Parts: sequence; C-alpha cells; structure tokens
Amino acid sequence: MRCRLCGKKAIYKELRFCEEHFTSYFDKKVKKVLSNPLFKDKKLLVALSGGKDSSALLFSLAKLVENEEIDFSLKKVEALYIELGISGYSESNLKASKELCNSLSINLNVVNLSDENGVSVDSVSKKSRKVCSECGVLKRYLINRFAFESGFDFVLTGHNIDDELFFAFHNLINGNLNYLARSGKITPTDNEKKLVGRVKPLYYVSEKETAIYCLINNVPFSREKCPYSKNNAQIEMKSKIPLLLDSKSKKISFLKHLNKLKKYFPLEEENSVEKCERCGFPTTTKICKFCRIIEKNK
Ligand code: AMP
Ligand code: FES
Ligand code: ZN
Ligand code: ZN
Repeated sequence: MRCRLCGKKAIYKELRFCEEHFTSYFDKKVKKVLSNPLFKDKKLLVALSGGKDSSALLFSLAKLVENEEIDFSLKKVEALYIELGISGYSESNLKASKELCNSLSINLNVVNLSDENGVSVDSVSKKSRKVCSECGVLKRYLINRFAFESGFDFVLTGHNIDDELFFAFHNLINGNLNYLARSGKITPTDNEKKLVGRVKPLYYVSEKETAIYCLINNVPFSREKCPYSKNNAQIEMKSKIPLLLDSKSKKISFLKHLNKLKKYFPLEEENSVEKCERCGFPTTTKICKFCRIIEKNK
C-alpha cells in the first residue's frame, strides 16, 4: 500500500500515510489543540508517565515549538513525573522520562509519593482491592497540587481517544453524568478551588497511533506494563469498544456527539465542592479522597 500524499510506502494502513506524513498528521493534531490562544504565554506542565502517550505528546510539543509552529516558549514548559513506588515498574518509567527530558532540554520535576506521605502504591495494594482506582486518585491529586503550588496555568496529559471512550462508557454505565459533563479536551482553571486546568492534546489520537509515532521518531518510552493492570476492568472494556466502534471515524463521531449532549447532563451544585479539612484542596466530602487513602495506609 502507498501513501495517499506522496506515493511512498504506507506504514499506517488505516489512513494510508508514509512515515513522514504520519508524523506530520500526528503533529498537526497536537498543534490544533495547543494553538488555542488560551495557552499563549502560559506556564504548561506535561504530566509525564514515561509511557508512550505522554512521551509522544512531549516530543511533539517540543518539536512544534522548536519549528515555530506554535507560538510559545519552551522555557515555559516543564514536565512532572510522579514516583508512585511500584517496584519493577516505576524505575523504568522514571528512566525513560529522564532520557526524554534530557534529550529535549526540558526540566523534569519528580514528586515522590512515598517520601512525602510514607505510602506507596505497592503498600496501598496490600490493603486495597481497588488499587488502580486509588492510584488514579493519588496521581491526579499530586499532579494538580504540584501544578497549583508551582504556579502552572495548565496541565497537559497524554490521554488518548481510547482512554476517553473508556471514560465515556464507564461513566454512562455507572450513571456518573456529572463526571462526564465536567470532562473534555480542555477543562478550565479555577484558582479559588485550587484546580489547575487540564488539556488533552491527544484527545482525537488513538493508542495505536501514539505507539507508531514513538517508534518511527525514536521517542524513548517505557514498555513495562503496570503489574496491577492485569485483570483491570479498564483493559477489558477497552478491548470490547472496537467491536462496536470499529474505525477511527466512528470513535471520533461517537465522542463528538456525546460532547454535544453534555450540556443536558445535570451538574452538581457548585457549592457542593468544598475544601478538604486536612489539605485545603477541593473535595465533595469533609476530607478528600487523597487524605483518606493516605490515612488508611499509613
Ligand atoms: P493513566 O491514568 O495511567 O492512563 O495516565 C493518563 C495520563 O496521566 C498519562 O498520559 C500522563 O499524562 C499522566 N500520568 C500517568 N502516570 C503518571 C505519572 N506517574 N507521573 C506523571 N504523570 C502521569
Ligand atoms: Fe497505578 Fe498501575 S499505574 S495501579
Ligand atoms: Zn507520504
Ligand atoms: Zn485532603
């Protein structure tokens, strides 16, 4: 099969692109989101896990800035790695994150869950049957807290279209319309609530596409799988979604139409978001989930 733009060998059959045109297709997706005037002159923090998605995002962003395709300075872009304490997994993710940031001359911040709180995801796993969801709470909290306390305007994550489809189905099935209404490609900053805005530049990019991007551009990333993700409900559901949404265009169409429906979803009362009595970060209960997980596992 040949590239539909230049006739060279196509490496991505779904869209019929050669290596070069696949790379520019991917970079254009990132550029489209980040060209939003909302981000001009803002301090951006890339949440870097060392996995393929966030690594592809940081690489593409740095290249777009360097080639002056987006108008902001790399001086205002930093990365953050959360050391979760998962033995045999965290080490290789940190190594890949360091390698990538060194090669791009981007400052890598590291926050260590266990140094600061005396708890690791390995220790949480001994007491919890919901280790993945508790780990998600810990990660999101630490990313937001670091970004807020360090004065970043937005956090960029590597969530891709397959993550978003899982999130959509999971929350529709469980009736969490409120979560869905608040989610999206860009969520705004709310300084009063100590919430830093979130951006998902890979919102319309698939997991397969980020893997191809990393491989053809030699982006360093870790191939390790999290030991807690075996038998994970997310992986199981993600494998079933393509049975129904069997092409990229159907996936995009589904998300676009769902986003149009979001305005009809009921939002929780604004005043139900309060400050955690322990840490002062937002919560809908007296003590936030992060503080409760730490307390339970100390
Ligand atoms: P996940 O929840 O593991 O699917 O990751 C979703 C996104 O969260 C990734 O693309 C990263 O942007 C971010 N992320 C996940 N793990 C970490 C970590 N250990 N440190 C920093 N960011 C992370
Ligand atoms: Fe959190 Fe696997 S990365 S449980
Ligand atoms: Zn081509
Ligand atoms: Zn708290």
